[in-house]
Amino acid sequence: MPEAHEMGYFTEENSVEVVAGRNKNAKDARLREAMEVIIRKLHEAVKEIEPTQEEWFETIQFLTKTGHTCNDWRQEFILLSDVLGVSMLVDAVNSRRPNGASENTVLGPFHVDGAPEYEMGTNICLDQKGEDLVVKGRIMDTEGNPISGATLDVWQANDEGFYDVQQQGLQPEFNLRGLFRTGADGTYWFKAVKPKYYPIPDDGPVGDLLGRLGRHPYRPAHLHYIVKAEGYDTLTTHIFDPDDQYIDSDAVFGVKKSLLAEFVTINDPEKAKEVGFNAPYLEIDFDFVLARETSK
Ligand code: BEZ
Ligand code: FE
Repeated sequence: MPEAHEMGYFTEENSVEVVAGRNKNAKDARLREAMEVIIRKLHEAVKEIEPTQEEWFETIQFLTKTGHTCNDWRQEFILLSDVLGVSMLVDAVNSRRPNGASENTVLGPFHVDGAPEYEMGTNICLDQKGEDLVVKGRIMDTEGNPISGATLDVWQANDEGFYDVQQQGLQPEFNLRGLFRTGADGTYWFKAVKPKYYPIPDDGPVGDLLGRLGRHPYRPAHLHYIVKAEGYDTLTTHIFDPDDQYIDSDAVFGVKKSLLAEFVTINDPEKAKEVGFNAPYLEIDFDFVLARETSK
């Protein structure tokens, strides 16, 4: 007589073998293996939590609402993945880098393709609102050699914590966004304003969940970057204000120690004149180190 799971009959004890076993003819081995792990962990969770029917239905309703909240510009499932730390974990397993290379963090939903390319030193703040900031540094390889022809795509929230795409009609198009390309010395510099912390979109089911978990929806102030150069791993990252009130409680777990930048106040009127600001203004000096492309 075959065992119950070999006959395909479901019991509480053999649930994993029966359900995962049913997938044995899957043509895609990677899918079969991944589903085996997911089924195992999911059944384990149900056995440990023992949800009531009402609780399970509430979970299904939460997922349904999450789906209904998605549209062309809002991806509530990515937000869910972000607040559960899954986006950061997927990023971590896919961007293990040699020592000294800059670290990745989440992309987020506010990147826009096609930002204008500017000369070094351009001010990406198009509405003169906020505290003046100079951002400069070098783009290098892991041996400290400058990388020529690297592109640095930057985007940030304004002094009130909003991206241009969240305030269409209020902020100029492409405000606080730009693309810069390094020359032979690998240096970059541009002008901007000090960004402010802001909440992730919290008017949907993920925001409700955060509230029920006693969590706030805020991200500490940051500037986003995508740094690309031929022959190197693309770096998708941010730099953060270490003095921000949310630096130790980012809603999406994006902060890494190596990505804390120093916002230095410059009081020297001569230096201010050189960059075309009035003193005092803020300055960040931050280098990016790219790792050689890995063959995956
Ligand atoms: C962002 O930093 O733009 C962001 C990242 C994850 C979720 C929401 C926003
Ligand atoms: Fe952001």
